[in-house]
Amino acid sequence: MDFHQLLIDRRSIRRYTEQPVSPDDVKLLLEAVLLSPSSKSSRAWQIIAVEDKTTLARLADCKPAGAVSLKSCPLAIVIAEDTTLCDAWIEDGSVAATSLLFQAEALGLGACWVQLRGRFSHDGTPSDQFVQEVLGIPEHVSPLCIISVGHKAEERKPQNTDALKWENVHIDRW
Ligand SMILES: Cc1cc2nc3c(=O)[nH]c(=O)nc-3n(C[C@H](O)[C@H](O)[C@H](O)COP(=O)(O)O)c2cc1C
Repeated sequence: MDFHQLLIDRRSIRRYTEQPVSPDDVKLLLEAVLLSPSSKSSRAWQIIAVEDKTTLARLADCKPAGAVSLKSCPLAIVIAEDTTLCDAWIEDGSVAATSLLFQAEALGLGACWVQLRGRFSHDGTPSDQFVQEVLGIPEHVSPLCIISVGHKAEERKPQNTDALKWENVHIDRW
């Protein structure tokens, strides 16, 4: 598929069927992270692919709102970064997460970003720390976000290219 059309078609999908993501597709999704550019080529990502239902249910409690997509997804991919290896870990993790979102769409799968950094669970635990505890992630590895993935159980309209914020674009100077 043409990449521009992929940009138009990709939407956040928060409801999924029970069909598992095939092992071949899981591999392509993980490769999308590992193929991403990173600052100084530090490649400091640490990725945890979760398919276990009990663990997925626990991850869904990482914050009271905005984690609904974790309730029905058959696969959640936690993007974390070894913060000792890279000072641009937030940028690197965000780029990798974006690659993953587009790879999912290219495979006909739905996906959604679940923000962790700066978010809190119901008892006030930071959401990234909550995820560290659930998955046994060491302290120097910071979970940035979780990407829920699965076969789409909702249809979203493609983006409307007539409604793009061209007023935010400046040419040559502000
Ligand atoms: C940095 C970032 C954080 C986001 N956090 C969440 C989140 O915690 N929960 C959620 O359901 N969607 C989250 N989203 C998805 C946005 O809500 C979504 O991209 C936006 O509403 C535009 O809709 P679209 O992706 O369907 O085009 C996040 C997206 C980004 C880029």
